[in-house]
Amino acid sequence: MAKVKKAYFCSACGHEAAQWMGKCPACGEWNTFAEEILSRGDKKASTQFGRPLSKPVPVREIEDAPQRRVMLSSEEVNRVLGGGLVKGSLILLGGEPGIGKSTLALQLALRSTGLTTLYVSGEESPQQIKMRAGRLGEGDGECLVFAETMLEDIIAQAEEYHPDVVVIDSIQTIYSQAIDSSPGSVSQVRECTSMLLKYAKTTGTSVIIIGHITKDGAIAGPKILEHIVDVVLQFEGDSNNVYRILRGIKNRFGATFEIGVFEMRGEGLAEVANPSEILLSHYDEPLSGIAVGAAADGIRPYLIEVQALVSNAAYGTPQRSATGYDYRRLNMLLAVLEKRVGMKMFSKDVFLNFAGGFKVSDTGLDLAVVAAVISSYFDRPVAGGVCCAGEIGLSGEIRPAPRTIQRISEAARLGFKKIIVSGYLKDASPLPGNIEVIHVTRIDQLSRALFGVAEEIDN
Ligand code: TYD
Ligand code: MG
Repeated sequence: MAKVKKAYFCSACGHEAAQWMGKCPACGEWNTFAEEILSRGDKKASTQFGRPLSKPVPVREIEDAPQRRVMLSSEEVNRVLGGGLVKGSLILLGGEPGIGKSTLALQLALRSTGLTTLYVSGEESPQQIKMRAGRLGEGDGECLVFAETMLEDIIAQAEEYHPDVVVIDSIQTIYSQAIDSSPGSVSQVRECTSMLLKYAKTTGTSVIIIGHITKDGAIAGPKILEHIVDVVLQFEGDSNNVYRILRGIKNRFGATFEIGVFEMRGEGLAEVANPSEILLSHYDEPLSGIAVGAAADGIRPYLIEVQALVSNAAYGTPQRSATGYDYRRLNMLLAVLEKRVGMKMFSKDVFLNFAGGFKVSDTGLDLAVVAAVISSYFDRPVAGGVCCAGEIGLSGEIRPAPRTIQRISEAARLGFKKIIVSGYLKDASPLPGNIEVIHVTRIDQLSRALFGVAEEIDN
């Protein structure tokens, strides 16, 4: 093997050292040193002064290279990828341990017709994978299982078998011989990913890298991988719940923010083509504190139920809790209710929950969140068949949610009778005829729109 030249760099200030140090002598930060490869010793310089080997070209002269895509067995995954898997792309599939990343990857490998996949596992033995494959059921895909953790061996085998797709499960267990630090360290993860990127681009093989996410949501500790790879997918969900969302966070070949919904069953992940149906409950009698929001993550709109409980705070500081929703955004919406509507939120505990253990980040759901809070505050149920779509600003103004028309159409399709949207909606597209669209411009008009009367606030 050619001699590899290495050094240690402080990730905070960039200070270079010949060996690892606990504390950086330049900036004083602790535990910031990471090993990096300076040169592999076997490469010739790719350019020489005065004689560049490649040249800039005007954009109109660049020849089109049509992206070649392969369709995987799952419609949901194909859509999140922007219309199938692009050949030669590097995909990062992140998620918390136990969420179902290995299941999803193995399922795609087993069921995608005409596709040869090299499934590299550093976590499970071939027997364990066989057991899992037994549960998932054999499909038409050709899946080669390889239990190995040394990257140089993995690439050598991949070059021999020429698979269409390589799955690395997971990047935190793989190591390269070129680096001394242990698998899962920043330098190993970064080095292995860039070697896989090179392999993917030179051979046209798609590589799916599975990465564990830490509690705070970062992939592989630091977010170092996200800018190296072409596509970042995040698999999320509540492990107590059966629904899982595959969310596109970055995609160089398609729309970002697309989502795919799955249900974890005994025989693997089943696709949920119509998420609204699972996210809406049907109650015999109307209950207060429940509102329905029309959400639109990606191109597909869906309806989701929001539940809020507002109760008198027993202690000086009220408790606030939000499951599946941004806690700070909830606090912001409560402050707007306090200031613009005069509701006494300072003395109330507020608990918020989204159906199905879904995590939502769509600001178009603000109106539904506020509707659920208002409904619980006054203990007055929102009438059946009413839903909301709108964003709330700090002055209490209701702004149009992105792609409101699609949200309205989805609500109409699911048989909703009324939808409350922003009065500032400019889109002149024709609206579906079978739904009444109610326009509101300020948050203090919401209770009238919801209950037919404006609630009195006793001061
Ligand atoms: P797994 O794919 O191993 O998670 P990850 O790779 O993200 O760590 O999924 C583990 C969970 O999925 C485990 O708790 C069992 C469950 N599961 C099913 O419910 N049905 C199945 O068919 C399979 C294979 C797993
Ligand atoms: Mg796994």
